[in-house]
Amino acid sequence: MDHDIARILIDRQAIAQRLDELGREIEADFKQRADRVNGVRPRPQITLVPILTGSVIFLADLMRRLPMMMQIELISVSSYPGTSTVARQGHIRHDLSRLPASLAGHHVLVIDDIFDSGQTLRLVTDALRERQPATLKTCVLLRKQRPDVPAFELDYAGFDIPDEFVVGYGLDYNGYYRNLPDIAVLSSTAIARHMQEESQGEHP
Ligand code: IMP
Ligand code: MG
Repeated sequence: MDHDIARILIDRQAIAQRLDELGREIEADFKQRADRVNGVRPRPQITLVPILTGSVIFLADLMRRLPMMMQIELISVSSYPGTSTVARQGHIRHDLSRLPASLAGHHVLVIDDIFDSGQTLRLVTDALRERQPATLKTCVLLRKQRPDVPAFELDYAGFDIPDEFVVGYGLDYNGYYRNLPDIAVLSSTAIARHMQEESQGEHP
């Protein structure tokens, strides 16, 4: 697996350090909100809505930095079929049906691994807004610098990265590499090999 890496973009120490900062920021913001609005019925201080599967490692590391009453509602959205590194419209697979019909009184934080075209977060925040949460904020680990993408106000972003396809720390290529502890750029030979395997009908 290591042979497939062209270079490490963000290493595990830098990720951990940034998560410490993000955790402190989110805790301070959400604790204040809960103090203001809660009272009559007990509510979680924060309701995390992670987008599967890419956000699992980010979620696990971030949630342990948030010492608050917490609930989690998992959702899944997928926009990258097979060996494509470019999102294609019409290939979005989403399952928002597991969301509660109402999120009234909930202080929601949506968590995703990366903001690329913004398609995923727009879809998810629209669906969540209909459920009328008391707070709706967004948090991504990575934000790609893409001048072509319409502005979207993210509340928390870990790192701004160049417009390159990255893997590791939950992010995949063709289902692989999520378990790399660092965030890395794949080598062109690895990409070519995966594409060849897929065209020959090999798994996946
Ligand atoms: P968006 O909808 O285009 O913003 O893309 C968001 C989703 O696409 C993320 O949740 C990732 O699953 C996936 N994605 C976008 N860019 C990358 C990348 O560089 N590597 C791996 N997955 C990516
Ligand atoms: Mg994803």
